[in-house]
Amino acid sequence: MCGIVGYIGKRNAVTVLLNGLQRLEYRGYDSAGLSIIEDGNLLTFKKQGKVKELIKVLEGKEFKANIGIAHTRWATHGEPSDINAHPHHDNSGNIAIVHNGIIENYASLKQMLISKGYKFVSATDTEVLAVLIGYFYEKVKDLEEAVRTALTEVQGTFGLAVLSTYEPNKIIAARRGSPMIVGLGEEEFIVASDASAIIQYTRQVIYLSDNEMVTLNNENYYTKTIDNIRTNNIVHLVDFDLSKIEKGGFEHFMLKEIFEQPQTIRDACRGRLIVEEGIARLGGLLPVLDKLREVDRIIITGCGTSWHAGLVGEYLIENLCEIPVEVEYASEFRYRNPILRKNDIVIAISQSGETADTLAAVQEAKQKNATVLGIVNVVGSSIARQTDAGVYIHAGPEIGVASTKAFTSQLVVLTLISLLLGRMRNLSKIEGIRIARGIKELPEKVEKILEKADQIKEIAREFKYSRNFLYLGRGYNFPVALEGALKLKEISYIHAEGYPSAEMKHGPIALIDENMPVVFIAPKDEIYDKVISNIEEVRSRKGRVIAIATENDETITRYAERVIYIPDTLPMLTPILTVIPLQLLAYYIAVELGCNVDQPRNLAKSVTVE
Ligand code: G6P
Repeated sequence: MCGIVGYIGKRNAVTVLLNGLQRLEYRGYDSAGLSIIEDGNLLTFKKQGKVKELIKVLEGKEFKANIGIAHTRWATHGEPSDINAHPHHDNSGNIAIVHNGIIENYASLKQMLISKGYKFVSATDTEVLAVLIGYFYEKVKDLEEAVRTALTEVQGTFGLAVLSTYEPNKIIAARRGSPMIVGLGEEEFIVASDASAIIQYTRQVIYLSDNEMVTLNNENYYTKTIDNIRTNNIVHLVDFDLSKIEKGGFEHFMLKEIFEQPQTIRDACRGRLIVEEGIARLGGLLPVLDKLREVDRIIITGCGTSWHAGLVGEYLIENLCEIPVEVEYASEFRYRNPILRKNDIVIAISQSGETADTLAAVQEAKQKNATVLGIVNVVGSSIARQTDAGVYIHAGPEIGVASTKAFTSQLVVLTLISLLLGRMRNLSKIEGIRIARGIKELPEKVEKILEKADQIKEIAREFKYSRNFLYLGRGYNFPVALEGALKLKEISYIHAEGYPSAEMKHGPIALIDENMPVVFIAPKDEIYDKVISNIEEVRSRKGRVIAIATENDETITRYAERVIYIPDTLPMLTPILTVIPLQLLAYYIAVELGCNVDQPRNLAKSVTVE
């Protein structure tokens, strides 16, 4: 949550910082600010609202500073306001800090500082840290040591960057539980919470580890732990280019990402799917193949859309591999004292690889000696690094806050894992080949669905004023119903619920009348007839049915007011297709209602706080 960027080098720092903030804005967008050092003075500008509000404040001003830090915020402590926006200062006004995460013991630290005469202007935990650093600076007269000492006093999480006129050619950054990446340019460094703010300048990066800090000056950098032990870091190459984080002619990132899915599905399979042999090769799982052979139970964990992907994974793995699977919200898993046995495997699913609850679930599972695998998108992210092994989904940067392409790639990877595990067990080669062929055909089928965008836009226009929606599906498509409902509420603020179709009778049916659109996910599979019965139950109560059905299904037109067809595929692969019209439906309804699709209110792309 929140975005941080810091720059030291020869360029105009304000330009680099504003550029970075715009790239990071998807991480949080309720206020933004920056601090620079110009002619020995610390200048700070901050403003409630989006980055463009900050840009307005800076308009007409000339800056020549070559060093600075900046922040775009998603409020945790203190409402969004100019005062609560970052950067925050210490009491001397000579130290500025930007911070992601939560200082859990901020109240007691604040009390201690107040008792010593220190003053506070904001309601944030970050200001407490700024003042604490100032307090230690007065004692040690060394910025790095002041930051380090302050961090030893802090409980909670942080990704942070510090700037000070005391040592004006230095940025100090640190992390615990909130990502920080250092871009290594030629005679310049960019430190950021996310590689998207860096790659315009350099591809060479180091990832800070938890409890590690970096000191950057004009010529070089070094890292150490918060316990003062020097560390060495491997330099990584970030392998995506700028076009991947730009809109490429689409009105919104979300639409671009929906339309990228034929390619991202291909990328998730690249080099992994061996159709002739009906198997999947997943290099990332090689270190744990023996464990996979012996696994007795799999627990899948994640949040939001990733949790929905996990639910599909449960159906896939149980069907193809006959291994019992449980799926649990990461936030519940971590606080439940879960029982993990020797041959249990935990799979954490996360697009960002930084979601605090999922990361904590990984740590909980590791502490209990379980083998923990990751299905992650962001390379080098915390979950990717803390799991024992895993599979990257390779969907490229996902900027739209509502997850789309990551979901379908997660499903592809879960199918590949099921294929691998199934073939290690009882799944026949013939069945393996059938599934592998089905996977290979998916990108073209997704393309066909995307061609129906205009039809879906029409449906969106017709239903945009409905205040409630029900999404129903069964079997593999029950999680898709949840995901369709989530997409709609996230970006259009319309109340929507997902339910297993048959469960509708036990409650939601009471809501159905002529004003209630019900989206049925009804591909032709072994439970199709049952879904038709459920549709009849809705129709007889005057509910308005929109159906997602398999092409050439004429029967469904007798029951549904609107039908969106998807190409035929294996039942287990249908979620990868049925979710696409639901993503588009949510998108077009939100656009019709004038909502900010890429930055919906109150949400953030990656929730790095509890
Ligand atoms: C936030 C995002 C969702 C996402 C969820 C889990 O709530 O808005 O789109 O599904 O976090 O994120 P992760 O990065 O762990 O998949």
